[in-house]
Order: sequence, then C-alpha cells, then structure tokens
Amino acid sequence: MTSVKIRTLHIADSKNLLRFELDNREWFERHVDARASSFYSLLGVTAHIESYLSGLENGTWHPFVIEDDNGKIVGRANLKDINLSDRSAEVGYRIAESACGQGLATLAVSRLIEEGKLRWNLKRLVANVYAENVGSAKVLKRCGFSVETISKQVGLEDDYRFTLSI
Ligand SMILES: CC(C)(COP(=O)(O)OP(=O)(O)OC[C@H]1O[C@@H](n2cnc3c(N)ncnc32)[C@H](O)[C@@H]1OP(=O)(O)O)[C@@H](O)C(=O)NCCC(=O)NCCS
Repeated sequence: MTSVKIRTLHIADSKNLLRFELDNREWFERHVDARASSFYSLLGVTAHIESYLSGLENGTWHPFVIEDDNGKIVGRANLKDINLSDRSAEVGYRIAESACGQGLATLAVSRLIEEGKLRWNLKRLVANVYAENVGSAKVLKRCGFSVETISKQVGLEDDYRFTLSI
C-alpha cells in the first residue's frame, strides 16, 4: 500500500463499506462484538451510515474511513459517544485483515486524537479492549493511552479500559 487517506464517512460509501465489512466479517468477529446479521446488506449498511451521520450532525459521533490509493476502504475509525459537556469520547477502529501490520490503526488513532482536540475540543479519550487483543493494546499505548482499569467479569473476557488526556 503506497498511501492512504483518512476522511469522514459519507452516504455514498454504502457499497464500498458493505464490501469491506463482508470481506472482513470473520476477522472482526474474532476480536470485537459481532454485528446483527441485518447489517450485512446494502439497506442495512445505508441505515448504519445514516445513523452515524446523524450522530455527526448532532455532535455525538465522528465516523471516518481509511481509503487506499485505489479508493478501496481498508479501515474505519470513530470518535464515539462524544460528550461535549464533559469533553470526552470513546475511540473505536477496525482494519482490514489484509492491511494489518502496516501502521494503519496507529495512524487512525493519531488522527482521532487530533480531531478530538482540534475539531471537538475534547480533553479525554477512552478505549475498551479485550485482554487478548494484544495488537489493539499496542496501538493505544503507542498513541499515549494508559490502562485505567481491568474489569474481570465471571464467564466473560477481561475488558481493558484505556484513557488518554488530550
Ligand atoms: C487491532 C487492529 C486495529 C490493529 O491494526 P493494525 O493496522 O495492524 O495496527 P498497527 O499496524 O498500527 O499496529 C499493530 C501493532 O501490534 C502488533 N501486533 C498485532 N497483533 C499482535 C499480537 N497478536 N501479538 C503481539 N503484537 C501484535 C503489530 O505487530 C504492530 O506492532 P509493530 O508496528 O510494532 O509491528 C487490527 O488488528 C484490527 O482491526 N483487528 C480487528 C478489530 C479490532 O480488534 N479492533 C480494535 C477493537 S479495541
């Protein structure tokens, strides 16, 4: 991959986003919670984009996609649950299996930090990661996050909560 562009998601992304999510469904489901099966159709993805874009409009969500130099979506990153009163948000990201290990998640999280600071005037970011997701924890630590809590829930995987003051 020679270069990538990180930009705000838009409504015209439905087809490409569905391709990205379908191609990587199994890969993502190994690391993050599975999406409802109704998501995996043009109708489902369009509704998903519309809801994210209404979040952008009302200042609660900022969704981004990562495109390669052919315009193919190879990753996603979101500022989620933006709270403009306490100036915080959660970060989330997912990279196509075929594009992993090239620093894209690190690049995406760095961009989320920058947008959180400059566009949204936030002062605190959080991220929730399953303990087994070593790659994701590495990305967060490299971007300056530190582990705040580790919750142990009986019968469930551990959940690491990372935070960053910005
Ligand atoms: C986690 C994820 C986002 C990382 O994306 P990425 O673009 O490969 O991340 P980066 O290349 O920026 O950095 C990942 C680092 O973790 C390392 N890594 C990945 N898996 C690892 C593992 N199992 N053990 C040790 N290190 C690992 C990589 O080698 C890399 O480190 P390096 O640059 O020093 O070599 C990607 O694997 C992914 O999308 N997974 C599925 C969805 C997901 O887990 N999202 C995050 C939810 S919290």
